[in-house]
Amino acid sequence: MTPELLEQGARRAQERQQKVLRGRTESGGRAAGFSRIAIAGEVDVTHGRILYLEDVSVSFDGFKAINQLSLDIAPGELRCIIGPNGAGKTTLMDIITGKTRPDSGTVYFGSTIDLLRYTEPEIAQLGIGRKFQKPTVFEQLTVFENLELALKTNKAVQASLLFRLDSAQSDHLLEVLHTIHLADSVARQAGNLSHGQKQWLEIGMLLMQDPKLLLLDEPVAGMTDEETQRTAELFLSLKGKHSLMVVEHDMSFINTISAIVTVLCDGAVLAQGTLAQVQADERVIEVYLGR
Ligand SMILES: Nc1ncnc2c1ncn2[C@@H]1O[C@H](COP(=O)(O)OP(=O)(O)OP(=O)(O)O)[C@@H](O)[C@H]1O
Ligand SMILES: [Mg+2]
Repeated sequence: MTPELLEQGARRAQERQQKVLRGRTESGGRAAGFSRIAIAGEVDVTHGRILYLEDVSVSFDGFKAINQLSLDIAPGELRCIIGPNGAGKTTLMDIITGKTRPDSGTVYFGSTIDLLRYTEPEIAQLGIGRKFQKPTVFEQLTVFENLELALKTNKAVQASLLFRLDSAQSDHLLEVLHTIHLADSVARQAGNLSHGQKQWLEIGMLLMQDPKLLLLDEPVAGMTDEETQRTAELFLSLKGKHSLMVVEHDMSFINTISAIVTVLCDGAVLAQGTLAQVQADERVIEVYLGR
């Protein structure tokens, strides 16, 4: 093969890879000035932000669910989002994870990854894990099998049957089991766990993929006081290693994890600060906390 042919082949392979990684750029009509290829596990946080949203808006049938929202999260930060029903908290997570496309605005993961160029599965690949309110573990499988399954990238049945954990993956699985307080329940069927344990197992399944950023929507809803306390400890242990964005209504839980709190209202940021600061804010009392 001549050097030119080799070079052409390499260029074509690179173009193909860029197309996959860039998702919808070509047909989406967004500017093609994006020179860096995003690689899972590499997020440029040199500017001190893991997540950055600016002037993001989205309307549903003319109703502005998110209205010029700007927000950023630091690497390793544990951020709480509160706000009245319909404030746009879940929609914010939908936008970050690619489930909903905003009408306008900027959404960056680190300083180089424009999330609006990626599809929902690609965003998960990049290292953003999301937990919905209802636990979605595989009830018929054991705790171990659920965690093991979370590692499988090839969902084809045959590949799954042949799948075996290597030693690094086994070590990681054991570490996750301890982190989520389920080491004693490794062989239990997930369907027999308590509601709180199912929530932890699902968080464990996300942790198996070692996400940079975790989005958790009302994680302690329906938990007992003790489970809520343990979840607070769990989140505090994840902080630093991961960045977390937690939507919650439970003020005592937020107080325990003592994070910076962002108050959303009508699709925009109404206030931000420590829990004590936002609880003392007249506007926040008016729309959310009540008098
Ligand atoms: N896909 C959609 N189509 C139409 N309207 C939507 C859609 N998603 C959200 N909305 C509307 O956008 C607004 C914000 O909803 P969202 O679910 O984000 O609120 P929230 O802050 O999560 O509320 P809650 O605390 O009740 O969970 C609501 O008025 C909701 O009805
Ligand atoms: Mg919601």
